Amino acid sequence: MKSGIGQAAYKSTEIHSCQASYDIVASEYYDADLHPTCADFRAASRVYLKKVFDAEAPRGRIADVGCGRSLVLEFVSKDLVLVDESRGMVQGNMGGVEVRIANIEMGSFGHEEFDWIFAILGDPYNTPAAWGHIFEALRPKGQCIFITPSVVWAKKFRERDKGERSGFARFVLSGGRSVYLRSLIFPVAEQRALIDRSNLKLIEVHSIFASELPNVRSPKISQHLSDDDPVVDVYRVSKL
Ligand SMILES: C[S@@+](CC[C@H](N)C(=O)[O-])C[C@H]1O[C@@H](n2cnc3c(N)ncnc32)[C@H](O)[C@@H]1O
Repeated sequence: MKSGIGQAAYKSTEIHSCQASYDIVASEYYDADLHPTCADFRAASRVYLKKVFDAEAPRGRIADVGCGRSLVLEFVSKDLVLVDESRGMVQGNMGGVEVRIANIEMGSFGHEEFDWIFAILGDPYNTPAAWGHIFEALRPKGQCIFITPSVVWAKKFRERDKGERSGFARFVLSGGRSVYLRSLIFPVAEQRALIDRSNLKLIEVHSIFASELPNVRSPKISQHLSDDDPVVDVYRVSKL
């Protein structure tokens, strides 16, 4: 999500679709110079994961869904399954861990298989269908950690910044082309209702604040959030 684009970018084709795959951005998604906003959200997610793994050492069978270059793999590899619909996004993961190429909105990725499901930056598939499949894949008493860019950021940035669109993440690719990919970020009450409808229970809402990051690289974040604003929101969910 690079800022400061040239004139050519405005003339270029836009891809603006609910169904577009992250394959379109995969080759450069993890380039922090090109996409510092993604890098900041990833850094904030890592801060939360470190807290959870330090305090609770999640174990059992674990899935990282929408894994991309898996952050969970930085903390655990035993009994870990990586799930993503984009072959391009999973390419950076080291071997030895099971990878399932699956669209978690379109179908099942497991049946009462997982003790923990992590969905890091899961806003592209924050839908009833995906939550239904998360319910199906969790074992009874299993937990899901679902992280999105903060609702505060989404409101302050997407609704005010020229060129942004509510409900979409804008990526300005290195070639100058703008791509809009679906990004569903809801106020807590709506997120709770979405989780409730899939028969899961929201047990904790947590945020990672700008002050908890060593530095904020992206002007898309630093210009809109102060130190005590949340960068990412974390929904911790249990299957009863
Ligand atoms: C914002 S990226 C986050 C990637 C990774 N979790 C991280 O933190 O770097 C969202 C990821 O979700 C994947 N994704 C999007 N929709 C999906 C779906 N319906 N089923 C499975 N994966 C999906 C994308 O391919 C991409 O890898």
